[in-house]
Amino acid sequence: MEYVVIIPAAGSGKRMNAGKNKLFLTVQNVPVIIHTLQVFETDPLCKAIYLSINPGERESFKLLINQYKINKVKAMVAGGKERQESVFEALKAVRETDIVLVHDGARPFIRHSTIRRLVEKAEESKAAIVAVPVKDTIKRAEDAQIMETVERSGLWAAQTPQAFHMSILKQAYESADRDQFLGTDDASLVERLGVAVAIVEGQYDNIKLTTIEDLYFAEAIIKNRLSLPEG
Ligand code: CTP
Ligand code: MG
Repeated sequence: MEYVVIIPAAGSGKRMNAGKNKLFLTVQNVPVIIHTLQVFETDPLCKAIYLSINPGERESFKLLINQYKINKVKAMVAGGKERQESVFEALKAVRETDIVLVHDGARPFIRHSTIRRLVEKAEESKAAIVAVPVKDTIKRAEDAQIMETVERSGLWAAQTPQAFHMSILKQAYESADRDQFLGTDDASLVERLGVAVAIVEGQYDNIKLTTIEDLYFAEAIIKNRLSLPEG
């Protein structure tokens, strides 16, 4: 049941438009990256955290990690231009684990209970991701003209964490690197190998802080949590 987690944190947060890495923005006065790290710091199943960072931000990350007493960070590796490169660099540093999770630094609200269900599923089926059923009606369009209304049943919005047997994720990243394949999540690289990836249903509040309004949602989610704590 134990696992290691890779947390890509090397982005620049362009869509947030904050003039700095969005992971340093605060929610309830605590930096977003610290909220995320605290989830894994306090999860007894998590053995180690591998962080991908922008080398120019190394000192800022170090200061925060010391200040908030995050003790599980085993390595801070230099990330790359794309998230996929950042994860790959961290993956190269990971040692001795059967199960590896990848979780966005920008998703601070993942719950221990969801992580536990995910890890259990990955142990039995090699690869599993957290996702939620799509709530909107989805249209496929070209030049803002609707081509098709996509059948909603069977559509899931992928989140993180995504969990894998270590050997499979390594193989998937090496293969994608060889073929110059760029995916939008970790599971898509594993899917290319023909390995079945299971879905574990998560929560809608496991949002990724992407644009400015997500900060308002984040404040609301955390206030609700404080009044209604849940594992
Ligand atoms: N990430 C990373 N390396 C990159 C790009 C992204 O480690 N080259 C990380 C981000 O720090 C974030 C996670 O991957 O924790 C998800 O990416 P996203 O939400 O897209 O963050 P950014 O790339 O920073 O934002 P944007 O795309 O708006 O620039
Ligand atoms: Mg990005």
